[in-house]
Amino acid sequence: MKIYAVKTLDISEGNLEKICLLIHLEKRCKIQKFINKKDKVRTLIGEILIRTIIFEELSIRNKHLTFEKNQYGKPYFKGHPKFNFNISHSGDFVVCAIDDKSIGIDIEKVKHIEYKEIAKSFFSLSEFNYIVKEDLNIQLSKFYEIWTLKESYIKCSGQGLSIPLKSFSIDIDQYENIKVIIDKEHKEYVFKRFDIGSGYKMAVCSVNKEISNNIIMIDQNSLINKFRGLI
Ligand code: COA
Ligand code: MG
Repeated sequence: MKIYAVKTLDISEGNLEKICLLIHLEKRCKIQKFINKKDKVRTLIGEILIRTIIFEELSIRNKHLTFEKNQYGKPYFKGHPKFNFNISHSGDFVVCAIDDKSIGIDIEKVKHIEYKEIAKSFFSLSEFNYIVKEDLNIQLSKFYEIWTLKESYIKCSGQGLSIPLKSFSIDIDQYENIKVIIDKEHKEYVFKRFDIGSGYKMAVCSVNKEISNNIIMIDQNSLINKFRGLI
């Protein structure tokens, strides 16, 4: 397993368009439709990050790469069942995890939202209690911890939001062991939280026994240069 992160920087419109010409049409159209420039950059960087990683891991060049999606929208690399990946982006970060088994990753920029209302409506009762039992000043941080763990799980399973968010519960015990409970049973998924920067929460969920401790930080400009070299 490897976990990568890119801290995004602005890209000029001209450069953005040029790089977009090097990726698949469907993704290019998706990027063009975003109104917010940051959404464009995050999605483009996610795409060239995975394409560059695949070249490094499997020596497959960009032009030979096509991704498929499962019925819930999770992208995968057809014909390579031992190469699994998942991408997430929020704020100034794009993150990607690769593994030989199914994997899910989620990053969220912490925003001041009505976390109590959201947790009451969408989280299990024990998740809600895990948040509100804490001092007021750390409840928002705990909320995002649960949020990213839940999302890493639905992304690992590949079923996205077709899984009702209250149908499973993230349990963090007194020793900080994390597990997911579904129908009162503990399922064999492992989780890890990462500290990637203040103001962000990030989590990885895997069906392998161990999750890497390391985040490989990649500079955006070096990534773009490397990607251009693959063409
Ligand atoms: N399973 C796993 N990964 C998926 C996926 C699925 N069903 N569908 C898309 N993805 C991947 C794609 O690579 C996508 O990247 P792209 O948009 O650049 O193509 C990436 O996940 C996006 O992940 P992230 O940045 O974390 O986006 P998100 O948080 O907006 O949404 C979803 C992630 C689409 C999988 C889905 O969970 C969703 O819509 N969530 C909305 C937020 C929410 O309510 N979360 C509840 C958490 S408690
Ligand atoms: Mg997310």
